[in-house]
Amino acid sequence: MRSSIIFSLLTGAAISFPLTAHQEITTTTTILSTSGSSSTTPAFPIHSSCNSTLSRQLTRAFDETIELASRARDHILQHGQTSPFVQKYFGTNSTTIAPLGVFSRVASADRGRMLFRCDDPDRNCATQEGWAGHWRGSNATQETVICDLSFAPGKRRWLDQVCGLGYTVSKDATNLFWATDLLHRTFHVPQVSEDAVHHYADGWEEVLEMAGKGDERSVFDSDALIYFAIDVYAYEVAEPGRGCGGYQMGN
Ligand SMILES: *[C@@H]1O[C@H](CO)[C@@H](O)[C@H](O)[C@H]1NC(C)=O
Ligand SMILES: *[C@@H]1O[C@H](CO)[C@@H](O)[C@H](O)[C@H]1NC(C)=O
Ligand SMILES: *[C@@H]1O[C@H](CO)[C@@H](O)[C@H](O)[C@H]1NC(C)=O
Repeated sequence: MRSSIIFSLLTGAAISFPLTAHQEITTTTTILSTSGSSSTTPAFPIHSSCNSTLSRQLTRAFDETIELASRARDHILQHGQTSPFVQKYFGTNSTTIAPLGVFSRVASADRGRMLFRCDDPDRNCATQEGWAGHWRGSNATQETVICDLSFAPGKRRWLDQVCGLGYTVSKDATNLFWATDLLHRTFHVPQVSEDAVHHYADGWEEVLEMAGKGDERSVFDSDALIYFAIDVYAYEVAEPGRGCGGYQMGN
């Protein structure tokens, strides 16, 4: 048995020489691994500290986050700078390349070592009043904690509730939906955002003011990106052709 394996290895080696140019290249290229990179929408890794109930909800929430980001990406690809939503949230002179990159990375970037966990390693869920989750920052830069509070009844809504229950883009919180909340959380994780997305404007008014002034940071602003994505989703999916901005179109 053993000798036949050795024999076949030897003959295998014998008939594969000399190496072709292609073989030489593949055997010396070790900079990038090509294994496991076939999926265009890799799953967001959920830690074993999330039990089956929480894990199932998070899986659905991440599916919706990817749906939201993909819709935003495709809207930008189709309409570019002519989109009234692009002009509203990112300014009339902005490049769409930045938000296109951000949304593409949320939807499709390799997840690397990023991790979403349900335990409370930094004790913030237990000690910080009202915290529903947090980025672990310098304690574990690719990791995010989702506190039990996130799963409380009525805390987060699903995307099929957009434009329902009186929701408007301009008046309601950017973390009302699982998808918008997790979009924000992925922006903090360098594996997704490359540390390029930050908080420059706080809330609807400041986002519009920043874009209106032609501030180039708009395309990297966390709130601007979230408002853009959910407004596009409302207009294209939830209430097609109308949306639920809660503002006068053209304003
Ligand atoms: C999962 O964890 C949550 C929050 O700690 C808890 O409320 C729920 O009962 C757990 N589910 C199961 C199946 O253990
Ligand atoms: C990091 O860990 C320390 C000690 O556990 C904690 O006090 C601190 O709040 C944590 N940082 C973050 C961003 O959670
Ligand atoms: C947009 O760019 C044009 C041409 O460079 C410039 O005149 C205009 O002031 C810019 N508008 C804003 C809002 O930055």
